[in-house]
Amino acid sequence: MKILGIETSCDETAAAVVEDGPSEASPRIVSNVVYSQIKEHAPYGGVVPELASREHVNRIVGVVSEAVEQAGGFGALDGIAVTTGPGLVGCLLVGVQMAKGLAVARGLPWLGVNHLEGHLCAASLSDSPPTYPHVALVVSGGHTHLYHVERFGEYQLLGRTLDDAAGEAFDKVGKVLGLGYPGGVHVDRLATGGDPKAFSLPRGIPAKKNFNFSFSGLKTQAVQTIRAQKEPLSGALLSDFCASLQEAIADVLTQKAVRAALHAGVSGVVLAGGVAANSRVRALLEERAGNHGLWAFCPAKKLCTDNGAMIAAAGWQRFKAGQDTNWQARVRSRWPLDELSDR
Ligand code: KG4
Ligand code: ZN
Repeated sequence: MKILGIETSCDETAAAVVEDGPSEASPRIVSNVVYSQIKEHAPYGGVVPELASREHVNRIVGVVSEAVEQAGGFGALDGIAVTTGPGLVGCLLVGVQMAKGLAVARGLPWLGVNHLEGHLCAASLSDSPPTYPHVALVVSGGHTHLYHVERFGEYQLLGRTLDDAAGEAFDKVGKVLGLGYPGGVHVDRLATGGDPKAFSLPRGIPAKKNFNFSFSGLKTQAVQTIRAQKEPLSGALLSDFCASLQEAIADVLTQKAVRAALHAGVSGVVLAGGVAANSRVRALLEERAGNHGLWAFCPAKKLCTDNGAMIAAAGWQRFKAGQDTNWQARVRSRWPLDELSDR
C-alpha cells in the first residue's frame, strides 16, 4: 500500500509517499519533499498566516508532483492523507483542496489526519519502531503536551503547557537575542560549548507538582536578563546564555516526561515535534530515561520538524485500520489529540 501525505498546517509545504515497511506497525519512506517557507517569514520574525497560505498555493503543485514522481507516479498510489488540523485554517485549506482534487481526479480514497498524530507517527518511520503502551511528549511551536498512548490512535492527556509552548519560548527569546527565525534552531547551535549553569533561569511548575508546563516565567526572566546586560550578549556569553536557556527547557521537559512514564507504568517515552530536534532535549531525555530503566525514542531530526512523511505514516496506519474517505471532514484550527475518537 502506497500512501501520499500532504502537510500545509503552518510554514512548511510538504508531501511524501510511504509504503508498507519493515513491520505491521512501520511504513517506509519512498519520497519526502519539504519546502520550508522560513525565508519568506524571517523578515517578520514569525509566521505571517496570510503570507503562509499564499506561499502554500504557489508551492503545493510542485512539491506534491515531485514527491509523487519520485514514488512512481500517481498510478502507484492507493490513498491520500492530508493534515486537517490543528493549524492555520487558510494554510490547511490549501492542502485539503489539493488532496480532494487529486482524490476526485484519480479516484483515490482520502483521509484527514491530525497534525499531532502525524508528529507521533514520525517514530513509526524506523526499522525498530517504539512499542505500545508508552508516554509521548509532543513539543513544537504550538504544543507542549504529554500523553499516555495505550495503542495507535488512543491518547490520554497527562499534562500540557498552561501558556507558551516550548518552541514559542525558544523562538520568542531567540527573537529578543536578535537571532534568526526560528530561534530554537539558532539557540541549539549557539548553545554548543556554552555553560548551561552560567545563567539561572526558572523551570516553571515544579516537576513534583503535576505534568503541566509553564514557560511564560522563563520567557519573562530570560528577556529581563538580556535587557539588563550592559552590552548586547555576544561570543562566549551568548553561548552561555543559549546553553542556560536550552537547559532550563530541556530540564523541565525531560523530568516531567520521565515522571509521567513512571506514573503511567509504561516502559518508555516517545519524543515528537519540532523541539524534539533539539540536541540537549534528546540527550537529556535518553540519559534520564536510561537512569530509570526506561527507553527513549527520538525520531530522526529531519522527521521531527513538519514534513509529509509523518502525515503519510499516520494515514497509512488509519487506512490499514479500515478508515475511509469522509467528504464531511472539516479543517480545524484547534483539534486536541484526545478528541480524535469523537470525529
Ligand atoms: O513541529 P514544528 O516544525 O512546527 C509546529 O508544528 O509548530 O515545530 C517548530 C518549532 C519551532 O518553534 C522551532 O524553533 C522548534 O520547533 N525547533 C527547535 C529546533 N528545531 C526546531 N527548537 C529547539 N531546537 C531545535 N533544534
Ligand atoms: Zn508541527
